Amino acid sequence: MRGIVYLGKDNAEYTEELELASPEPGAREVVVKMVAAGVCHSDVSVINGTIPWKPPAVLGHEGAGIVEAIGSEVKTVRPGDHVVVSTLANCGVCPKCNTGHPTLCRKSIGVVKQPFLYKGEPASNFAATSSFAERTVVAEVQAVKIPQEIPLTSACLIACGVLTGVGSVFNTAKIEPGQTTAVFGVGGVGLNVIQALRIANAGSIIAIDTLPQKEALARQFGATHFINAADTDAVAAVRDLYPFHPKMVTGPLGAGGVDVAFDCVGHTAILRQCVDMLDWGGKAIVVGVPGFTDEVSIPAVNFVQVDRSVIGSRYGGSRPQFDIPLYAKWYLEGKLMLDELVTQTYPVSEFHTVLEDMEAGKLARGVLTY
Ligand SMILES: NC(=O)c1ccc[n+]([C@@H]2O[C@H](COP(=O)([O-])OP(=O)(O)OC[C@H]3O[C@@H](n4cnc5c(N)ncnc54)[C@H](O)[C@@H]3O)[C@@H](O)[C@H]2O)c1
Ligand SMILES: [Zn+2]
Ligand SMILES: [Zn+2]
Repeated sequence: MRGIVYLGKDNAEYTEELELASPEPGAREVVVKMVAAGVCHSDVSVINGTIPWKPPAVLGHEGAGIVEAIGSEVKTVRPGDHVVVSTLANCGVCPKCNTGHPTLCRKSIGVVKQPFLYKGEPASNFAATSSFAERTVVAEVQAVKIPQEIPLTSACLIACGVLTGVGSVFNTAKIEPGQTTAVFGVGGVGLNVIQALRIANAGSIIAIDTLPQKEALARQFGATHFINAADTDAVAAVRDLYPFHPKMVTGPLGAGGVDVAFDCVGHTAILRQCVDMLDWGGKAIVVGVPGFTDEVSIPAVNFVQVDRSVIGSRYGGSRPQFDIPLYAKWYLEGKLMLDELVTQTYPVSEFHTVLEDMEAGKLARGVLTY
């Protein structure tokens, strides 16, 4: 079957020499025939070495498709169902799962399996998912049924960009109506942060990107302001918009600025800028993934004196069995934009064209089809 295999740093290729290691799913597994898969920056980060991963591995983690086969104990989906495939193969029985935090389940990260054969040799999955393959095998808890009227080329984006972006607003930041906000990075994840802030009635949504062509997209999704960070000091520009006092941009202990700032790029310099543009009590939400050994320096006075905080948000703190049907419903009600996120679809064999178009800043999301 066809797919995209990661073979080592800066080396990922389209192949037709993939197979499922076992054609029959385990008792609590589901075989999904992939129909569409978005290309998220985290796939790019595996290829460029920012996210360490052992090759050979089948990439992709933002997919939707049709259930083809189920294991003997699977109860929640059946062949023919349309599903969004979540990346959380969480156990469902541990204290984290049972307190509504599946992203903190020990089984939800770092458990790598080898469900594929590439040229006859075992190949790993990525993010427990591998949506860049015609067929993949996942745990039952990962295959979440959605209504059939949602095009799978749009629904696939729920699997990462939407769960992460929207979840970081509702589950992590817990935005209150009227709060002022800033979002670094108007990509597939940042646009979902922006649209969730619009749904949450944020008081303002300042989109920040280094590409001026991202302004129109940002505004379409709900941004109230746009800052081009290529030619403007974003922290100074945000403090000009929300000064401590009309005559003083920054007050004592850095007062002034926004209530919540999101890093949807994945760089420690941006995380520091997020903190530097926060008002007292402000939250910096870390969504972008920097290098695994990168460190960030933040003046400690921020924390105990004026209650600023830095909060990580892996996968938007999502609860896939609850959030995926909710976002599907919001889409059908016209609240959540999915079709507008799909700039272009490409046959899976054109994976490298998607990477080039992403790099050139042409895409909200590029979606591969099978
Ligand atoms: N927390 C999670 O679970 C999670 C999930 C998905 C993606 N991510 C991470 O989120 C980040 C964004 O992913 P994406 O798919 O939206 O990427 P993307 O490539 O679609 O978008 C990134 C955007 O950031 C902009 N950008 C780059 N440098 C910038 C800078 N210095 N200042 C402002 N904007 C800048 C780019 O122009 C682009 O518009 C990546 O680091 C990715 O790995 C994290
Ligand atoms: Zn992703
Ligand atoms: Zn668990």
